[in-house]
Amino acid sequence: MPSAFSFTQVTKRFGSVCANDGVSFEVEAGTIHGVVGENGAGKSTILKTLYGLYRPDSGDIHVRGEKVDFRSPQDALARGIGMVHQHFMLVPTLSVWQNVVLGEEPFAWKPNRAASIAALKSIQAEFGFSLDLDARVETLPVGLQQQVEILKLLYRKADTLIFDEPTAVLTPQEVTLLIERLRKLKNEGKTIVFISHKLREVLTLTEKVTILRQGKVVGSWQTAELDESSLAEKIVGRKVQPLPARKQSAATTPLIEVKNLSLEGPGRPILQSVSFSLRPGEIVGVAGVDGNGQQELIEILAKTREDYAGEVLWEGKPYRAQDCYRLKQSGLAVIAPDRHREAMILDFSLCENVLLGHHRETKYGKRRLDWTTVEKSTRAIIERFDVRPALPQAQARGLSGGNQQKLVIGRELGEGVKFLLAAHPTRGVDIGAIERIHSEILRLRDAGAAVLLFSSELEEILALSDRVLVIYNGRIQGETPRSQATETQLGLWMTGGAK
Ligand SMILES: Nc1ncnc2c1ncn2[C@@H]1O[C@H](COP(=O)(O)OP(=O)(O)O)[C@@H](O)[C@H]1O
Ligand SMILES: [Mg+2]
Repeated sequence: MPSAFSFTQVTKRFGSVCANDGVSFEVEAGTIHGVVGENGAGKSTILKTLYGLYRPDSGDIHVRGEKVDFRSPQDALARGIGMVHQHFMLVPTLSVWQNVVLGEEPFAWKPNRAASIAALKSIQAEFGFSLDLDARVETLPVGLQQQVEILKLLYRKADTLIFDEPTAVLTPQEVTLLIERLRKLKNEGKTIVFISHKLREVLTLTEKVTILRQGKVVGSWQTAELDESSLAEKIVGRKVQPLPARKQSAATTPLIEVKNLSLEGPGRPILQSVSFSLRPGEIVGVAGVDGNGQQELIEILAKTREDYAGEVLWEGKPYRAQDCYRLKQSGLAVIAPDRHREAMILDFSLCENVLLGHHRETKYGKRRLDWTTVEKSTRAIIERFDVRPALPQAQARGLSGGNQQKLVIGRELGEGVKFLLAAHPTRGVDIGAIERIHSEILRLRDAGAAVLLFSSELEEILALSDRVLVIYNGRIQGETPRSQATETQLGLWMTGGAK
């Protein structure tokens, strides 16, 4: 098969970071090619050099056999290369057709609706889209906004479409639709590059996979030669252990009881009679599309808001009556959803961040802070969670998101935790660290802690939970033991489907 494009010894540095280090690989025209690797492996960077967003420091890029030197995405689009970014670049207040033609208006200085609609209709027919071209983009669900991005590229006649982590923002049903759509695009002769860290999607969709690790190519394989564990091993560079078998919790008295929790938002309810309980030694996963009340439920349980109706009990005692400090002393630990806003202070050192919320503990000194002990704890966390750089006095701001998260988790999963509220514990963290964090959460559970896990990754919910709740529109839409949960059923509940 002819080559759609190729990289030869492409190197790209950002200051002292070498994002791409002598990267070489080729993508055949008319195929679906996966690019995988941990966070920070250099996936986005290498494809952004193809899309003209970055210029390589050295190395060559060929498109259809010809050497190119793109200065901008316009240059790349002129040669048929288009990219759908991780974060969409649409104008929310404009309609679908306006967004598609923006910057590329046909025939005149003023966008011509009739001509644009006619052109788009034929593209929609050819590729099996059925978007309402006059709908305002902000009224569309994320899955359809993504289609607008694709339409934009097809309108510009791109024949190579690069998708950077396209499923990160989608529900399981939307993922299935996207995968069908990508297959269809391929059948129509397009070349698809699929960047992802979700192994199962890569295995079902792609024909060939290139793996990056720390800026370098590990290799390219036919997907058929790989399975989930061999792919994970190649990505991480070592064996990945499956999670250990677990024993059932014997406890029957709940640690936490949530009864008829309701919360009014401006003009609409945010939480509606939410009730559930949580036993010691149990992980309950809360699945749901972001924005269905999870944030507020977390805030109530983390005790950062009090404006709710209903009741929360900890060992039968009302939550409201207890202050944060006492709850923390009784064993509440929180992995907050937004680590920058709620879990750390970026201008503080790692040591100071480890001390946050724990400064009154006697192990850190009775009358004066004992910094030697703080530094010792920090070093222990750094070692246990492989935080890099391993410098207790470094400023937290200098760490990558994944390493910041590891530090926060190390601090929170200390001694005496009885109730762990874990919101997106592995967001932005790479596979090696995910494995570590998951096994620490399970260890905590086996030691008798109750864990309430919020995650937008169904895979994570299913891997860890004993029981799964699905939250939709502020209600518990469904509940099931892990053993009976299927992605299809959870996906249905997540979009408001029948019980
Ligand atoms: N614009 C930038 N400025 C500075 N560093 C960057 C920039 N883009 C990426 N990097 C760094 O380059 C490395 C590779 O990043 P990236 O290509 O985004 O990885 P991936 O997409 O595989 O997660 C990371 O260490 C990242 O921090
Ligand atoms: Mg990326």
